[in-house]
Amino acid sequence: MTPVVPPLEIGEHTIWPPLILAPMSGVTNRTMRALYKPFGLGLTVTEFVSSNALQYGSKRTMEMIDQHGIEKPVSTQLWGDDPEVMAKAAKVVRECGADVVDINFGCPAPKVTKTNGGSACLRDVDRCEAIMAAVVNAVDCPVTMKMRLGWTEDKLVYVDVARRAESVGIKAVTLHARTARQFYRGSADWDHIKRLKESVGIPVIGNGDLDDPHVALQRMRDTGVDAIMLGRATLGNPWLISRIRDLMEGREAQASPSDADRLRFCIVHYKRMVDELGEARAVPQMRKHVALYLKGIPGAAVLRERIMRIPTANEAVGVIEATIERLERESSVAA
Ligand SMILES: Cc1cc2nc3c(=O)[nH]c(=O)nc-3n(C[C@H](O)[C@H](O)[C@H](O)COP(=O)(O)O)c2cc1C
Repeated sequence: MTPVVPPLEIGEHTIWPPLILAPMSGVTNRTMRALYKPFGLGLTVTEFVSSNALQYGSKRTMEMIDQHGIEKPVSTQLWGDDPEVMAKAAKVVRECGADVVDINFGCPAPKVTKTNGGSACLRDVDRCEAIMAAVVNAVDCPVTMKMRLGWTEDKLVYVDVARRAESVGIKAVTLHARTARQFYRGSADWDHIKRLKESVGIPVIGNGDLDDPHVALQRMRDTGVDAIMLGRATLGNPWLISRIRDLMEGREAQASPSDADRLRFCIVHYKRMVDELGEARAVPQMRKHVALYLKGIPGAAVLRERIMRIPTANEAVGVIEATIERLERESSVAA
């Protein structure tokens, strides 16, 4: 292996490859992080967890911060607007196995921003600084932060917030290069990511719209970022991760798997979710994943409709198995 990029350093952790799975609420649960990590992720992050909810420690909240069985280092993400509550929550997640605590200043969802959490914090950079300082002082592990460019286009605060982050001891910062008001509209502007890298000394992780291995590497080179974070494009396509890792390790990117192999892995994912969450929770959660694994497969639209209505895991897996058989029949006829 002749790496073409250096590892990411977050405090005492050397992370290889510098490739991170984005936290995605309702998606990147423990099962999914454990399944996707071996594709070549250097780091995984939990879904964001409410610092307020952690005070009550409900079963569901504790499940969200569960890191068992995932290759270390692992990161746990917190959101909230109160420095003291965030500090207490950071202690809890640290005790529950987080090697890195990540602070969320990026979520644009109204249910979060209406309580001044997530990206709403970017409206008050002094509060951002107080939260970051409180969390850094609360734990004996590195603390990182993930943010958007700012709340609105006319007030981009990312450089200011990142400089404050550096000054209070934050060890790395991720930038999803959109404003909160943009939600997911338009495209991430990597020029801002480059500017951020030029503005701070701590590692910068670039995020937004990466869906191609060569473009991802080019983004790293063009901006000088220390790592990249991948979100939506990995869903149903974890091979994007292994293909980027190939390039980072100086190899040609392996070919993408056949449609049938993609669906075989979908079944592995499905069964693992049923084993770990139980059928009643796994079936509705797997609908969106199956839809994504089906992307680009002939007849996907009809299959997706069917899967949305199927109430049991056995039936859903049966439909996927039948699709694999059909794809193999068709490819043997074509050959
Ligand atoms: C369904 C979904 C849930 C998300 N949840 C979180 C979250 O919990 N914490 C967070 O920091 N970002 C969250 N994000 C944002 C992603 O981490 C990432 O910044 C964004 O999707 C842009 O990256 P991408 O273009 O590679 O998907 C979420 C995104 C999606 C699509």
